[in-house]
Amino acid sequence: MDRLIERPRRLRRTEALRQLVRETWVQPSDLLFPMFVTEESESREIPSMPGIWRYTVDDVCRKVEEVVRVGLKAVMLFGIPLQKDEVGSQAYQPTGVVPRAIGALRKNFGDSLLIVPDVCLCEYTSHGHCGVVKEGEVQNDATLELLARAAVCYAEAGADIVAPSDMMDGRVAAIREALDANGFTQVGIMAYSAKYASGFYGPFREAAGSAPQFGDRRSYQMDPPNLREAMREIALDIREGADIVMVKPGLAYLDVLHVARERFDVPLAVYNVSGEYSLVKAAAMNGWIEEERIVEEILTAFKRAGADIILTYHALDYARRWHKIH
Ligand code: PBG
Ligand code: ZN
Repeated sequence: MDRLIERPRRLRRTEALRQLVRETWVQPSDLLFPMFVTEESESREIPSMPGIWRYTVDDVCRKVEEVVRVGLKAVMLFGIPLQKDEVGSQAYQPTGVVPRAIGALRKNFGDSLLIVPDVCLCEYTSHGHCGVVKEGEVQNDATLELLARAAVCYAEAGADIVAPSDMMDGRVAAIREALDANGFTQVGIMAYSAKYASGFYGPFREAAGSAPQFGDRRSYQMDPPNLREAMREIALDIREGADIVMVKPGLAYLDVLHVARERFDVPLAVYNVSGEYSLVKAAAMNGWIEEERIVEEILTAFKRAGADIILTYHALDYARRWHKIH
């Protein structure tokens, strides 16, 4: 046999060597932890998302103590209101559950915590769509004003960044304009830019009670086979003033993430969505996979594909373990 000059195994011999040449690291500060805040009187675990809860405002503050203790810096907030109506009024009331949670978190944690509320109407509308509905159609332009009101309302409560997830055309521009007009020039926008109409949101919709009562979201969320269109959506959001852009879901869309990374210079986020979390949890609870290893591989894949920021329900578990071993 010829003498081997290149022996890649040399650099794999010990853990110290492997770490020396490791190309991708996932740190707790890369992660954003999505949390549900409810107006109900008690906190409750979400059956399809073991370990993830709908918290009362008081309990969300208690939980975030743990979140910051393990080195996480950022939470995303979803609201679960008691009252839903046709126009999602509770999404833009200063007394709504999300503004109250933002206020309480800001008071308890100051600027050490990044507070990133999701901006959408679907958790607040009786029909479960992400915008106002007329004659069975989701109305784009009429929805923009309500989204902008919600964003301003969360900025007033103390949000650092608002994250519109509705997929209406022009929402980033509408939100940017409203924030600026109200003096919130320093509040950022993380746009769910390439958000696909996906079956992977199932557990979230159960958690938030936000499944559409008729039809589906295919007339506003993206068609899964399209990648070039995702690049147009991202470019559009950047032009409209998005500070951070996102690809969602994650695992089935790593190619989209990778191409977006090559193409754009703004910070890029990926959403490791509810269904992706539930798949891992279910298999782990059956003893079919090693959860910690798999979560590490998944989060690493997002960073290797080009994400700067990962939204994941695994954040707390991952950070706890990272804290223990570093
Ligand atoms: C609301 C929203 C959804 C998610 C984030 N924001 C649900 C949807 O669009 O149906 C999905 C999050 C997840 O599945 O973890 N528009
Ligand atoms: Zn929505």
